[in-house]
Amino acid sequence: MSGIKVRLVGSYLIVILLTVLFLEIALIFSIRYYYEQNIKMILASHAEMSAHLFERYLADEHWEERSAELLDNFSLHTSAQVQILNASGRLLQDTNGLPSNLSFNRDPDVQQALAGEPGSWKGTMPVTREPVLAVSYPLIHHGQTVGVVRFVTSLTGVEDAIQTLAIVLVLIGLMVVALVAAISWFLAKTIVGPVIDLTKAAEKMAEGDFSVRAKKRYNDEMGKLADTLNLMVSQISRSEQLKNEFISSISHELRTPLTNIKGWAITLRTGKHDQRMKLEDGLEVIEQESDRLSRLVEELLDFSKFEAGRIVLRKEPLHIPELLMWLEKQLKPRALRQSLIFQVKADDQLPVISADEYRLKQVLINLVDNAFKFTEPHGHVYVHASKTEEHVIITVEDTGIGIPEDELPHVFQKFYKGTSNVAGSGLGLAIAKEMIKLHGGQIVIDSKEGTGTKVQVFLPY
Ligand SMILES: Nc1ncnc2c1ncn2[C@@H]1O[C@H](COP(=O)(O)OP(=O)(O)OP(=O)(O)O)[C@@H](O)[C@H]1O
Ligand SMILES: [Mg+2]
Repeated sequence: MSGIKVRLVGSYLIVILLTVLFLEIALIFSIRYYYEQNIKMILASHAEMSAHLFERYLADEHWEERSAELLDNFSLHTSAQVQILNASGRLLQDTNGLPSNLSFNRDPDVQQALAGEPGSWKGTMPVTREPVLAVSYPLIHHGQTVGVVRFVTSLTGVEDAIQTLAIVLVLIGLMVVALVAAISWFLAKTIVGPVIDLTKAAEKMAEGDFSVRAKKRYNDEMGKLADTLNLMVSQISRSEQLKNEFISSISHELRTPLTNIKGWAITLRTGKHDQRMKLEDGLEVIEQESDRLSRLVEELLDFSKFEAGRIVLRKEPLHIPELLMWLEKQLKPRALRQSLIFQVKADDQLPVISADEYRLKQVLINLVDNAFKFTEPHGHVYVHASKTEEHVIITVEDTGIGIPEDELPHVFQKFYKGTSNVAGSGLGLAIAKEMIKLHGGQIVIDSKEGTGTKVQVFLPY
C-alpha cells in the first residue's frame, strides 16, 4: 500500500474507532443506569407501601411477635427478597429463610432507615458475592422507628443482560469499523490510482518519450492535472519538432548562399578577368548572398535576444513619410528585378510618433520582403501609411498567393513557414510582432488564398 492510502485509511479508522468506542461506553453506562433506577423505583414503591400499611393498620406494641405474618403481607406482590429488621438492625424475618439474629446494621440503607429516612444501597452480598440492590424503609409506630422493612433484589440478571448487550454492541461496532475500512480503502484507491498513473506518465515524459499520454479516469482535479500534463507534453513535442525543422531549414538557408558565394569565387579566380560583365554579375551575387546571410544572422540574434528578454527600444521622434521614402529607395531595385509594381504612399499630416527607427525599419523590410517573396511577377505590392484617432497605421498589401485559412493563425509563431518552399527562417513575423508589441502597438494580418495578403501595423501616438 502506498503512503497516501495508509494515511487515508489509517485516519478514517482512528476516527471511527474512537467514535464507536465512546458511543458504546456511553450507551452501556446509560442503559445500566436506566435499568437500576427502574429497579430501585419498583423496590422503593413496594417498601413505601409496606411501611405505610404497617404504620396505618398493623403496628402495635407486639408487632415483633407477629413479624412472620407481616412478612407474608409485605411479600405478597413482589418477587424480591423481603426482610424485616428490628430497631437495632437485627434480622427478624426473611423470605429467603436467612437465619434470624443476623445483623444488618452496617449496611448503609439499613442505617439510614434506622435513622428514620428511606435508604438505598448497591453492593455485593457478603457470602455469595452476588451484586444486589437494597431499599430500606423505617417501620414507624407512634412516631418512633421501631424496625425496618427491606427489599433486596439481585442484579445478576441485569448484569448478564448488559453483558450480552455489550457483546452485541461491540460486534456491531466492529462491523461498522470493517465497513468504514473497506469504504475508505476504495476511496483511497480512487485517489491514489490516478496519482500513480500520472506519475508513471510523467516519468516516461521526463525520459523524453513524448508519445505517452496521461490517463484521465475522472473529471476532477486529477483529471485536470492529467489534461494539463498532456497539454504540456504536446507543447513540448511541438516545440521539439519546430526546433528540428528550424535546424534543418537554417542549415539549408546557410548552405544556399554559401554555395553561391563559393561557386562565384571559384569562377572568378579561375576565369579570365577580361569578361567584365561576368565579374560584375559575380560580385553582385556575392554581395546579395552576403546580405542575405547577414540578415539571417541578424534575425537569429534578435530572436535569441527576444527569448532572453534583452531587447531595449531606442525611441526617438520619427517621421513616417521619411521612413516610407527610405523603404521605397531600398526596395525599388528588387521590385524592378522581380517585375513587381511597388507603390509607397503616406497620407498628409501624419503625426510624428516616438519609435525605434532601426527596429521599425526592420519590421517593414520583413513585411515587404514577405510580400515580394509571395507575389508573382507583375503583381502589386502597396505600402500605405494613414492615421486614426489614436494610431498611425502602416499597411503592406500584396496581390500574391495569399495564406491558406488553416495556416493563418500560425504565421506569427516562431519558425513557422507554412507549406511554402520559399527561402526564410520563419522568424520574420514572430520578430515583427514582438517589436510592435514593444512599441505598444499591434500587428494584424488578413489574407485570402490566391488573392493576396494585407498586413496592418498599428502604432500609437
Ligand atoms: N505576404 C504574404 N503572402 C503569403 N504568405 C505569407 C505572407 N507573409 C507571410 N506569409 C506566410 O507566413 C510564413 C511566415 O512568415 P515569416 O515572415 O514569419 O517567415 P519567412 O518569411 O518564411 O522567413 P523570414 O521572414 O525569417 O525570412 C511564411 O513562410 C509564409 O508561409
Ligand atoms: Mg518573412
